[in-house]
Parts: sequence; C-alpha cells; structure tokens
Amino acid sequence: MSAAEGPKPPSEAELAEMDRDQLVELGTKLDGVELVEYPDPWPVKGTRAEKRAERAIAAWFGLSALSAIAFVVVIASPWDPHWWEYKSPFDEDAHATYSLYTPALGVTLGLAILSLAIGLLLYTKKFIPHEVAIQERGDGGSQEVDKATILAQLADAGNRSTIARRSLIKRSAGLGVGAIGLAAAALPVASFIKDPWKDTENKDSLWHTPWKSEFPGEVVYLRRFTGKWDETEPVLVKAEDLDAGAMETVFPFRESERGNEKAMLHALKRVDSPVMLIRLRPSDAAKVVKRQGQEDFNYGDYYAYTKICSHVGCPTSLYEQRTNRILCPCHQSQFDALHYAKPIFGPATRPLAQLPITVDKDGYLIAKGDFIEAIGPAFWERKSQ
Ligand code: FES
Repeated sequence: MSAAEGPKPPSEAELAEMDRDQLVELGTKLDGVELVEYPDPWPVKGTRAEKRAERAIAAWFGLSALSAIAFVVVIASPWDPHWWEYKSPFDEDAHATYSLYTPALGVTLGLAILSLAIGLLLYTKKFIPHEVAIQERGDGGSQEVDKATILAQLADAGNRSTIARRSLIKRSAGLGVGAIGLAAAALPVASFIKDPWKDTENKDSLWHTPWKSEFPGEVVYLRRFTGKWDETEPVLVKAEDLDAGAMETVFPFRESERGNEKAMLHALKRVDSPVMLIRLRPSDAAKVVKRQGQEDFNYGDYYAYTKICSHVGCPTSLYEQRTNRILCPCHQSQFDALHYAKPIFGPATRPLAQLPITVDKDGYLIAKGDFIEAIGPAFWERKSQ
C-alpha cells in the first residue's frame, strides 16, 4: 500500500508535534507495514546476561583496536627501522625476524578487520530489536512524510538498541574504527618510509649486488655452478669455454672468498647474483647495438646480462639462439640480446642491466665492476632508459 492509499497524512503542524513513537507508528501505517513482532531484546534491564553480551562486544572492538595499533607499530617499526629489509638466510637471527614481517602485517590487519566485523555482528544480534514486519510493495518516489517517518524509525531502532547508554561499546567501537582508520592511512604512507638513497655504498643496498668487490682492486670472477653447494674451489669460466650461440648462467666469485664455503654458498644463493653469459655468433655480433655509455661492457662476442627480469624480478632464463631473444617465462617479456637487452615485447619497460666484463691475464672472464644501475624490478628512483 502506498502513502496515497493509506491513512490520511498529517499536516505539517501535526507532524511537528508528534514524538518519535508516534512517528514510528505513523510511518508503519503509511507504508502499509504491519509490525507483527517488535520485541525488546532485553526486557529486563541490567541482567548479567545483558552485561556479558555487552562485555563480549566491547572485547571484540578492543581486540580490533589493539590489532590495528599493532599493525601500525609493525609497519612503522619504531624500535628498528630496518627490520623489514632483506636479510640473508645465512644471517639466522636477522632472517627469522625479516621472515616474520609480511605475516605480521597480514595477521594484525586481518585480525583488526575481523574483530570489528564480529563486534558489529554481535551487536546487531544482541541489541537490535528483531522485529517481524509485513509490508506491501509501493510505487513511486518517497514523499516528505515518508522521509520524516523513516528517519524516526531509524532513530527509534538505534534508541531501542540502547546504544546511547552503552558507553563501553561506543568507546570500544570508536577505538576500533579509529585504529583501523589509522592503519588504512599508514598503508600508503609506509611505502615512502624507506629511503633507497641511504647507505647506497652498502653492498646489500638496492644499488649493489655480489658483483661488487669487497675492497678496491679485488678481482670478481665469473663462476660456473657445478651442482655442488659445498665447493670451496670454484670452477671459473674461460673465454673459450662457450660455443658461439651458447648461454650459461654464472655467479660471482670474489678472490677474498676462496676456501670460505659459507661465503661462496652465499654468493650462489643471493637472488641478485645470477648472470646470463651469452656468446653471440660472429654474424650476430656484427649487428650489435650498444647502449650509450656501455660500449666496452662486452668482451668480444661475450655479453653478460642480469638474470633478474626488469618487470617484477622473475629469472629470465630462456635464450633463443636463432632470434637472439631473452625470454622471461613469468609474463612473456622478451629482450633483444643484440640491442643491449632492451625489452621488445611484454610488460617489462627497462633493459636488463648489463654486467661489464673482460678477461684477466690467464684468460678467465672477470667482472670489471658491479652493475652500474639497480637490477630487477622498477622502483620510483630508477630511470626508464
Ligand atoms: S617478471 Fe618477467 S615479464 Fe614479468
């Protein structure tokens, strides 16, 4: 039944004089609603059960607030601003803490939202009257009287839920919502806390890889991985070891680490270590276009590119000799090995970083230095070309 077909709407003056109960009653009549049941969830006030329900809801909101605050603390890490930074598995204590960072973010934020939702559900279940009403479908838009009465009904529902006198629930809910709001604000801000320019000379910074020598003048060789993780004598790569058109994955070996099993293993396992050593066929080498400023990074037909994709860091392990394309299997980016490994297909936008190489007096391939740019995925401090 629509308002037009129901009881006669009151005048504005009559409307202004009605209290909330009268407006609720009028609203149901005008809407053709019949309230079959409208029980007070707690007809006897102040019972132990009612207080228990209130405390349970406050506890969920409190847990939500605590979890959200814990999330902010984790993301802001006030006691150690570097604990989320990558720590090698060889650094057992630091790596354990580092490994907890992402789970800690997920658990704290997830618990904050879940606890808030449970608190709201419990409040609805325990304190909002569960009325049974029957209403016929109406046509057309709402009239002023409908709007006034629906507002009264909503206010009445709020009033009957007794939220006004439940300061414990109000305070804990406010705390929970406020803390989650703080957590939501911390998320985008936290991305800007780390300064990639800080401590750039550190070998573990974003700008360096294990191809950086430990001290000036130290030679860093290109090392072959033989499948043995506990080698203390490295197998080094000589210029004549690769056939034309071949590709091999090589790792850094610093002279200062000879005999040091742990350090050599570390160099094999570091994510930024692997490099693709490609020996071009002479006919292809003649077509090479070198990158400005990197004209002497190759040694003859040998070119060395990082294996870490410039898109999101997968290993670009596939080299197609016929087309001289390097392929990343993750999202199918392709890089042109004849054109300083610049991307020619797929989502990657930056060339693979090139390692400058040469040979020593004995013919072993060595790095002339570290990469001159950060390897791997893009970040805001990197230039596109
Ligand atoms: S990580 Fe290589 S294409 Fe996405």
